[in-house]
Amino acid sequence: MSEKLIRVGKKLPALDGLEEKVKNQTDWVSADPVKIRTNFQKILQKPSGNWFVLGDRGKLCSKKHREVHFVNGKELLLIRNQDQFCCISNLCPHMGAPLSIGRFDGTRVTCAWHGLSLDCCSSHTNNRVPIYDDGYLIWVRLPSNQQSSDTPYLCDRPSNGIGAVYQKVLRCNPEHVIQNRLDPWHGAHFHPHTFAHLQVYCEFEGALFLRVAYRVWKRVCIEVDARFHCPDPRTIVMTIMEGEGKGSIVETHATPLSPGYTLLTELTIAYSSRPGFKVARVISPLLRPFIAHAMARLWKEDAAYAERRYYLEHGFPYQMYREKGALVGDPKA
Ligand code: FES
Ligand SMILES: [Fe+2]
Repeated sequence: MSEKLIRVGKKLPALDGLEEKVKNQTDWVSADPVKIRTNFQKILQKPSGNWFVLGDRGKLCSKKHREVHFVNGKELLLIRNQDQFCCISNLCPHMGAPLSIGRFDGTRVTCAWHGLSLDCCSSHTNNRVPIYDDGYLIWVRLPSNQQSSDTPYLCDRPSNGIGAVYQKVLRCNPEHVIQNRLDPWHGAHFHPHTFAHLQVYCEFEGALFLRVAYRVWKRVCIEVDARFHCPDPRTIVMTIMEGEGKGSIVETHATPLSPGYTLLTELTIAYSSRPGFKVARVISPLLRPFIAHAMARLWKEDAAYAERRYYLEHGFPYQMYREKGALVGDPKA
């Protein structure tokens, strides 16, 4: 028997018969793995400008003014200089010593092996890695045979929203993270604590449009219309198009670290046109942990999903079972 939901908040417009059209479609049939993979292959054709999300600008180098990061198999040294970041390869250009173990004097490092000295933030330093600070996230640009762009391909973000970031390293490749999001049909089944009802009513040019009922408390729900789209091959964005929080976004970024390891970075920017949102903005430091907690709750399950898909494709049953200490795919383990 279907659950009787109590809908609160803004009422959504009728979907001109689209809802009727998809009402009798079974989710497991709609979530066609071949279709999801084909959609993903199209998304892979989009340019990335060679940009990769490195992390949350508020947390990077928060303990020390320098950190080592791995992105797409490259070892990078990130330096924080006041409120600015700069990045170079962590491999000394002489013989590859890790520069991070050298002696630092401000932004200048002297290599621990033979004393080569270079300024990590100088534009004359050869192994410098371009960086982009979008206000929430720090991106790095790594060379590849694809064309580079001056900046990452960012989606529209609400100004004056409340931003919160969640990060986690997953045992899978970026495609498994993006394909998890290209399958919204699992939403109400796999996350019943968060989604009471979810219906994909339109798929158009790689974007998915859905109507979803978020649980506020038990059977009390807020219903919104949302769109998923990919501005680049490693990012998928959910935008609230209608209903409470219209204009809010959730950006999911998948950064390859090395084969089989992916850094998931999720940025939520919550927004509302209601007058009370001004108060929410004032107390945003108190709200951020709650937003991050909601993301973590969903990603506990979605990580299990993405890792299971990776595990099935690559056949690492015993190795991954031992690494994770549990059955791959069980979010409760
Ligand atoms: S490896 Fe750095 S100076 Fe030789
Ligand atoms: Fe999910």
